[in-house]
Amino acid sequence: QLMREISGVKVLEHQVKEKLQLDKVIVVPGNSDKERRVKQELGKACVSYLKDVIKDHMTIAVTGGSTMSLVAESMTPLNKKDCLFVPSRGGLGEQVENQANTICAQMAKRAQGEYRLLYVPDPISEKAYQSIIEEPAVKEISNEIQNADIVLHGIGDAITMANRRKTPKSQLEKIKEADGAGEAFGYYFDKSGNIVHKVRTVGLQMEDLQKINQVIAVAGGTSKADAIESYFKQGQSNVLITDEAAAEKLLKG
Ligand code: BG6
Repeated sequence: QLMREISGVKVLEHQVKEKLQLDKVIVVPGNSDKERRVKQELGKACVSYLKDVIKDHMTIAVTGGSTMSLVAESMTPLNKKDCLFVPSRGGLGEQVENQANTICAQMAKRAQGEYRLLYVPDPISEKAYQSIIEEPAVKEISNEIQNADIVLHGIGDAITMANRRKTPKSQLEKIKEADGAGEAFGYYFDKSGNIVHKVRTVGLQMEDLQKINQVIAVAGGTSKADAIESYFKQGQSNVLITDEAAAEKLLKG
């Protein structure tokens, strides 16, 4: 039974890698929509992949979300010199347990690395935003983020994420009208991968991902298959860690 499961996921890994044109795909058995244990397995797989690629003096930028919080839970000492964890972007409207800052600090502690946080009011007016990005302390950490060596991020269903973040009604309508399917880093994508909405905040911007060698997406569950597909139409991440249920639906779609 176990052997059959293992060879099954290997086939899925290969097919998803071909379909999305990625460098690496890891598939864990099961469906994270149904079992928290499967989401924990995603977390463990992410930590073990991270350990394969991390080197001394690297900076790791992380997003928030329940999947990333399980990555943090699975983290163990990295045994590397001067590894720095930073949140990928400023506040995106998430509750504290789902915020990148919270997860970044937890992850760094477990990894025995350093961390720096990003304090940006959320939501923020245009005027305050324009002045806050000029603050030396904010500039400094933004720089660290934009020069990260590794990015770990979640992908969400667009409407689920917009609701969870208590997005203003007008913006929610805009995302719905544009057929928003996926969300990552506060960017919302339609099925073809076009950006239909973007949360204004500091930190990683979509174009920054191009120069980062390891951009690792962690997302699973049948409910996220369309979101994953829409996100990868833009094709900025090179690694996907997902589960069997999401992979199967992704290959059918
Ligand atoms: C967020 C990331 O914090 O987590 C999003 O910034 C992502 O880009 C989301 O969509 C996914 O959340 P979850 O709880 O489904 O892992």
